[in-house]
Amino acid sequence: MTAGGNIGFDAGAYWRERVGAGSDLAVVGHRAMGPAYNGEIYARRIEALESMLVRHARKPLHQLRVLDIGCGSGFYTQFWRSQGVHDYVGLDISVRTIEYLAGLYPDYDFVCADVAEPLPGTLAGVDRFDVITVFDVLYHIVDNPRVESAIANIGGMVADSGLLFVMDQLCKRDYQVSRHVIYRARDAYFEIFDQNSLTLKDSELLFHFLVPPITEIRVIDLSIAAVFKIFGCTLRLNDRLVVWAASALRRLDARMRARGIHVRNCEFLVFARKGEADG
Ligand SMILES: C[S@@+](CC[C@H](N)C(=O)[O-])C[C@H]1O[C@@H](n2cnc3c(N)ncnc32)[C@H](O)[C@@H]1O
Repeated sequence: MTAGGNIGFDAGAYWRERVGAGSDLAVVGHRAMGPAYNGEIYARRIEALESMLVRHARKPLHQLRVLDIGCGSGFYTQFWRSQGVHDYVGLDISVRTIEYLAGLYPDYDFVCADVAEPLPGTLAGVDRFDVITVFDVLYHIVDNPRVESAIANIGGMVADSGLLFVMDQLCKRDYQVSRHVIYRARDAYFEIFDQNSLTLKDSELLFHFLVPPITEIRVIDLSIAAVFKIFGCTLRLNDRLVVWAASALRRLDARMRARGIHVRNCEFLVFARKGEADG
């Protein structure tokens, strides 16, 4: 992986501004599409998370020690709460979201930190986690040396028989689509996990067309993004139309998944420690 990225992009300031107290799903999710459409996107993500937990969790869910990196709006905090999880830590670079979630969930722990920097003693000192989630975060760390240190930090916190769940968009080559988003080359990306003793145990394509796929041809991707934006603005004029369109696209995605059809889009990746991956 080259040292590409965007030196000088201030991730802390960007996320402090973007993710504030009580942010809705449209802020952390697909911004063009509004909360109702994003509700369908997140429902699909929860479906994948639940199915990976059924397949791989080695303890009853309520006994899991969970670390949620980039906890954002607190959408997954609520999911873990609904599963009866007692031992949960949410980490985010945005102090506003951390303060807000700490007020909402006083019995959970929240840490304001940059996962790419040395982590505070409160995290480094604790027992490692059964499940670490990093959902839609790594492609926002646009400098390659920083993503390498983030994965090293994360790897150090996965328990021996623990699981690391990642949602990310991978490509054939590093592909920077905006100042705050870079999709990484698949082989080099897995190599960083491998260097940190983590190996891919399972994966599932999250979306076909509910979220726009990536072609890696910039002009086409920009056009798809523009069409999606216009589509989003039009749909948002009518709540029932949004809900109908989002659920129709989700059903289409499910049919394509059942037929084994693959497009380049966001994936759910499950990593485990080398040697534990077959357990
Ligand atoms: C696109 S949002 C995803 C939020 C949530 N995981 C979800 O899927 O709804 C990205 C989140 O990662 C956080 N984030 C970005 N860079 C980070 C970093 N270097 N360290 C910790 N958190 C970061 C942002 O503040 C934001 O809450």
